[in-house]
Amino acid sequence: MTGYFIAFEGGEGAGKSTQEGLLAAHLAESGHAIVRTREPGGTPASEAIRSVVLNPEFTGLDSRAEALLFAAARSEHVARVIRPALERGDIVICDRYIDSSVSYQGVGRELGIHTIRDLSIWATQDCVPDLTIVLDVDPALGLSRVANPDRMEAEPIEFHRHVRQGFLTLAALDPARYLVVDARQTIDEIAAEIRIRVDTELGARS
Ligand code: TYD
Repeated sequence: MTGYFIAFEGGEGAGKSTQEGLLAAHLAESGHAIVRTREPGGTPASEAIRSVVLNPEFTGLDSRAEALLFAAARSEHVARVIRPALERGDIVICDRYIDSSVSYQGVGRELGIHTIRDLSIWATQDCVPDLTIVLDVDPALGLSRVANPDRMEAEPIEFHRHVRQGFLTLAALDPARYLVVDARQTIDEIAAEIRIRVDTELGARS
């Protein structure tokens, strides 16, 4: 595959969407074809799964069912959107991906890092990001920015603390494929850090 796959990860209220928009605009200005998408979602069927898995009506949904739903949504998303875009040579910017499953279901729900990662690797036939950008924020601050909590956001703060550690652990295991950014900085400072790293990575490929 000739495209480039960037995933944005992090806890609630870290400001991912703002940064995804700024990066997409920067890359489009440099002439790249960009596909911006999100998880869970990105296709009609995956958006339908999203409306189940984030629905506060289903509080207490079985953890394994939750993990399988996220993986099912991801499988469909990769098959229909992400893989075709990468085969065309586009840059894919995805809001959340496998690391969200590993951190929320593997660590937060205690289903196990390896089990959950293996499930997503199977579901996506090994489609992993070239670069994962983790916007790191203390959950107390992040959650204070959330107006109408969905089913995951409504979990206790301890759950979100574990999730944060999940992201940081994954990043520490493979620094060459990660950028961890302190999301307490200003929007412009965060955007600059991201731009510099992405431009460097793309420059090294051309
Ligand atoms: P979303 O509204 O997209 O949250 P955010 O704007 O913070 O990205 O909701 C996605 C929620 O689903 C979020 O709480 C994280 C959670 N999630 C998982 O638990 N596992 C996953 O695999 C994915 C993709 C998301």
